Amino acid sequence: MSNIAVLGAQWGDEGKGKIVDLFCERFDIVARYQGGHNAGHTVRIGERRFVLKLVPTGILRPDKQVVIGNGVVVDPAALLEEIRDLEHAGIRVHGRLAISNRAHVIFPFHRMVEKISEARPDRVAIGTTSRGIGPCYEDKTGRRGIRMGDLVDRESFPELYRALAEDKQILARAFQLKETIDFDAIRRRYAELAECLRPMVCDTAALLNRAIASGRRVLFEGAQGTMLDIDHGTYPFVTSSNATAGGAATGTGVPPTRIHGVIGVSKAYTTRVGGGPFPTEVRGQEGDRLREAGNEFGAVTGRPRRCGWFDVPVVRYTAMINGFDSLVITKLDVLDDLDPIPVCVAYRLNGREITDMPDTHRALEAVEPVYEFLPGWRSTTSGLTRYEDLPSRARQYLQFLAERTGVEIGCISTGPERAQTIFVPGSKLEALLAGA
Ligand code: GDP
Ligand code: IMO
Ligand code: MG
Repeated sequence: MSNIAVLGAQWGDEGKGKIVDLFCERFDIVARYQGGHNAGHTVRIGERRFVLKLVPTGILRPDKQVVIGNGVVVDPAALLEEIRDLEHAGIRVHGRLAISNRAHVIFPFHRMVEKISEARPDRVAIGTTSRGIGPCYEDKTGRRGIRMGDLVDRESFPELYRALAEDKQILARAFQLKETIDFDAIRRRYAELAECLRPMVCDTAALLNRAIASGRRVLFEGAQGTMLDIDHGTYPFVTSSNATAGGAATGTGVPPTRIHGVIGVSKAYTTRVGGGPFPTEVRGQEGDRLREAGNEFGAVTGRPRRCGWFDVPVVRYTAMINGFDSLVITKLDVLDDLDPIPVCVAYRLNGREITDMPDTHRALEAVEPVYEFLPGWRSTTSGLTRYEDLPSRARQYLQFLAERTGVEIGCISTGPERAQTIFVPGSKLEALLAGA
């Protein structure tokens, strides 16, 4: 029985939440493998709207188990608040959520380090979500981080905390911030939070591998998107984790041989939040129109998202890095009134046309997009559920994207609700969801 990863093919906010919520009906466990509460995955179920940050989206279906894998960074206060909000909304979390004992812990001083780094005049601001994500991963790779297993270990935690706090105290002093951080109060607070989290903390790699061995199916839920991946994205304008398919294995402890399919989620156009290159960005009124039509405002920070046209070189590249078996195209309905619709098919760089992804952000800043203009359909696709009901020009648009990116389109989203979805009959996606 196959396990699949569902992840972002662009710069995040592709609609992963909606798609994971929909697809996970066929799975037993949903596991997050990277990122933290920088993610904001929106799910609309009737009149209700949920924005999931750390808790995997599978929580919204009562019979699913959810796992926060070792590759995730956890802010205990943010997690407990999210759990509380879900329980208030009638979603049972206790008994269904397992947190990896190897996941790293975010502390308030991680946010301090991030602020310092983002504000330094000689450093380019990344435009982060200010959640302490990057500095927590820095401590992880610096081998001084504190993991969930350490946090809930009453004996080891104080000593580990003392060492880490000392490190940050030096930094705080250097930036004359000492007064604002009460390191003892943080330790006491975290010791309390640990008591609430302890029952959920376990060896999730063992849990997942046992579940798979007994025939249960796992859906790996990506956060952010491939172009924000620390290795393969538009470095340094990236997040600090592996949002790509490889991250699903390292971020959960499930071997790559047990991940049988990789599904990329992409918008019918492109958005990006924060700084960094964005070749197809449209500014001014045209950009505003796209932002309003797509309601493109950050689910976590409320920041307006930068908007632009579909970028074939981006999705071809992310398909290569992840090995997408199938693509889900979301928000097709947002393009309903546009005619013609520009699609970037290549870049021009130093007078040459290229279709590969340049390897530096400087080069990507310098490219000029080469557009083809596809005819718009000027009729509503909102809420359609059958491929044959799509206007022929919308089908033509989708076929064009599939041909140019080299990946089949297995599913099309025509609205934020579960039911507002088209499955393309006979697709590889259909077979993967069925368990083949
Ligand atoms: P994620 O981070 O990838 O889960 O995406 P976000 O939740 O941050 O942003 C996607 C937004 O688009 C959310 O507000 C969704 O409710 C909404 N959405 C998802 N699919 C569609 C769609 O097909 N059409 C429209 N109009 N909205 C959609
Ligand atoms: P989901 O899962 C879109 C962006 C930030 C910033 C960069 C680094 O909802 O798709 P960070 O706080 O991670 O260090 O910020 O990454 N970013 C996202 N953009 N969607 C997200 O998550 C994002 N998570 C981080 O805006 O540019
Ligand atoms: Mg989001």
